[in-house]
Amino acid sequence: MKIKSLLLLFTLLFPSVILSAQTQIQLTVDVSKPIANIQPTMWGIFFEDINFAADGGIYAEMVKNRSFEFDEPLMGWIQPNSDRHSLNENSGIATVIMEGQGPNNHFIRIEVNNSDGYELINEGFRSMGVKADNTYNLSFNARNLSGGITKINFQLIDQNGQSIGETCVSPNAEEWKTYEKSLTTDVTEEKARLILTFEGTGVIEMDMISLFPEDTWMGRPKGLRKDLVQLLADLDPGFLRFPGGCIVEGRTLDKRYQWKKTIGNIEDREMIINRWNTEFAHRLTPDYFQSFGLGFFEYFQLAEDLGAEPLPILSCGMACQFNTGELVPMDELDPYVQDAFDLIEFANGQVTTHWGKKRAEMGHPQPFNLKYIGIGNEQWGPDYFDRLKVFTNAIKAKYPDIIIVSGTGPFPDGEYFEYAKKELKIMNAEIVDEHYYRPPEWFLENADRYNSYDRDSYKIFAGEYAAQSVAIASPDNKNNWQCALSEAAYLTGLERNADVVYLTSYAPLFAHVDGWQWTPDLIWFDNLTSYGTPNYYVQKLFSTNRGTKLVPVTFDAQPLIGQYDVYASSVFDENSNEIIVKVVNSGSADKSVNISLKGAKKIKKEGVWHLLNSQELTAVNSIENPMEIAPIEKQFAIKGKKLSLTLPPYSLSVIKLAED
Ligand code: AHR
Repeated sequence: MKIKSLLLLFTLLFPSVILSAQTQIQLTVDVSKPIANIQPTMWGIFFEDINFAADGGIYAEMVKNRSFEFDEPLMGWIQPNSDRHSLNENSGIATVIMEGQGPNNHFIRIEVNNSDGYELINEGFRSMGVKADNTYNLSFNARNLSGGITKINFQLIDQNGQSIGETCVSPNAEEWKTYEKSLTTDVTEEKARLILTFEGTGVIEMDMISLFPEDTWMGRPKGLRKDLVQLLADLDPGFLRFPGGCIVEGRTLDKRYQWKKTIGNIEDREMIINRWNTEFAHRLTPDYFQSFGLGFFEYFQLAEDLGAEPLPILSCGMACQFNTGELVPMDELDPYVQDAFDLIEFANGQVTTHWGKKRAEMGHPQPFNLKYIGIGNEQWGPDYFDRLKVFTNAIKAKYPDIIIVSGTGPFPDGEYFEYAKKELKIMNAEIVDEHYYRPPEWFLENADRYNSYDRDSYKIFAGEYAAQSVAIASPDNKNNWQCALSEAAYLTGLERNADVVYLTSYAPLFAHVDGWQWTPDLIWFDNLTSYGTPNYYVQKLFSTNRGTKLVPVTFDAQPLIGQYDVYASSVFDENSNEIIVKVVNSGSADKSVNISLKGAKKIKKEGVWHLLNSQELTAVNSIENPMEIAPIEKQFAIKGKKLSLTLPPYSLSVIKLAED
């Protein structure tokens, strides 16, 4: 019988004895017996364009359907004759024209009939968020066919239709020309829209109508939303996995993620429907497309900015098995494998190579130092392993140093999982991605998941984890404290097994409060602000206190995996000479804990305690109350190598003690 079960039995039989035992839990941290290195990749980020994470989210473009390539080409644009807009409908008309071939072959033709002032509005991604005294950079391509349009006024308008910032352009060319202007806003407005008013009469054609805040991450023109990237940077992530998720696979093969179509000139990137657009009947998002303004070059750049290892995941020739499950025949896999080769060359190749040259042309002659590549996202069954072997053999033959990340499918147990485990062991897989979307109780009960893991087998990438308060993909799931706390308990288990667990990431990462499909998510945002969930702060406390060596922390010479509702793990940081102990109290009562340090040098007299807790398991953070659950930091005195602490109910504590 496992320790946990024995303790449970004991608790039921002798509750009063347990009560007194609860008051004195003796933990021993043995610094002299490091177990393993903590991998720099231990705590990372999973990025997928779901919930408006890219378009409408981190990619700061404010104009929706800027290039008129949506399936409904005027989606996002409101015309005078639409029922949402009551201006004179005879003043003009806008139609979308398709001309020529190529990824961006639609544009808008505007015919202005009279001087009443024809207007066209872009509604943005659930509106546009603008901040007082900020600058917004406008750009568009146009050809003023008849030369009769004398001026286009661009105004950001508030919810009452009042202008809160404006500029104008006189389009002076009959051929396609790019125009750029900026405008400054004088008030903050979460629900702004962009209105174009035309002066003169005649015909003008426009494309790539775009508006970006000037204040982006690192000040890059047409770049990423600063507050959202900052939240990522604050996690100090060890890796960035991209671009998903099921988005890698596509609902059909045709709609899979094809990285080559996401690089180069933004205007030439082929927009496709986002697979989450119609995935859930309860959260239909018909206006969700992928512009690929955030494409593979930008992902690599973001990873570099964050100091994280890039971890791209590629299609293995199988569409999502929850959808069509379309398969590329085995004898037609070559182009897919070639995509992997070319990606490695794009990331690491010299500038003289075909793909290395493209990277250099995009402004990054230095390699991105790609070390990992994932093959397939959440595939299962023999078809996956047939294909995985082809990729693995080919990549290893050409690029032996590239580490292959394989998958175990969508579930952390059951038939598919067991089959995958067997196959992956035979294949000598290097790193394997496991997904855990389970109730909070599962996370508490599985804190010992890797305690008896076969140390001769592959390393673990806990690639997608998130406690589900209701059920997988239920729209009622909440990022509440109960879920976050259970994840904290589980993460002590991952950290305690850091000799086999090499990477971990919560999923999904982002969600727009008005545009989400899937909940729970690590970070929520609207068009102006963003906040980290309690789950975010759990991940952050682990990630920013990762240490470099795993050291044992024990209770009666056993790992802490829920005895008396306490879970613990411990690391040593060779850079700061700190001993870092993470302790979770998942119970409703205080816990008195005594910690003894074995093998430690003299300890400084003051320790640091990061505490994350709430009395309410249902508590959540929100736009209105973003720090309802957030860590507090306190100092405490310590004498010698022993300390006593009282852990509040429902708490995660990170205790840091520095050697003198
Ligand atoms: O994180 C949301 C989805 O969950 C991912 O796309 C997929 O890998 C998993 O099923």
